[in-house]
Amino acid sequence: MRKLVVATGNPGKLQEMEEYLTGKNWILTLKPQELDIQETGTTFRENACLKASQTAQAMGEWAIADDSGLAVEALNGAPGIYSARYGATDTERIARLLKELGDNSNRKAQFICAIAIAAPDGSIALETEGICRGEILKSPRGQGGFGYDPIFYVPQWQQTFAEMTRQRKGKVSHRGLAFEQLLPQLKTI
Ligand code: IMP
Repeated sequence: MRKLVVATGNPGKLQEMEEYLTGKNWILTLKPQELDIQETGTTFRENACLKASQTAQAMGEWAIADDSGLAVEALNGAPGIYSARYGATDTERIARLLKELGDNSNRKAQFICAIAIAAPDGSIALETEGICRGEILKSPRGQGGFGYDPIFYVPQWQQTFAEMTRQRKGKVSHRGLAFEQLLPQLKTI
């Protein structure tokens, strides 16, 4: 069993990442809170790589990072890489997004998730990306999940992420798709 440091401070993300990685020959530990990494990249991939790389180097261990967010077509891809910084709380972020989108009839949006794994020297060993397409509802629905889940509706399942079971969100979400590609490759490192 090898140690893998999870480079996140987001409890929702951590819970989902733990579900994908449990029983996979890695012992997960959480990055110390005081290790604060600035997300200075301009893409999800760049931010995932810099979080994984800097955490791995600081800890001298393997590290995994997820950078993710919601891109709304009618808002030219906003909030995108700024999804976490769009408001102070999930409620405020959702309220701002709904206000900015207003009555716009184009509700198309996609969730994007980039995952990176870095070796203890900071070099990137694996990178994957998953995308889940959906629509932004006019008001929140459902109690599960975290972040923008209550307003992100997936037409194929006729549910928001917040209405889905954990298992279903785990399969169809951007993070689920990124992990689906990652897990077979993880066995090779
Ligand atoms: P970051 O990757 O830490 O920069 O933050 C990503 C932000 O995107 C989170 O704080 C959430 O607001 C949002 N986000 C990412 N993944 C999800 C998800 O699965 N559901 C809902 N919101 C998400």
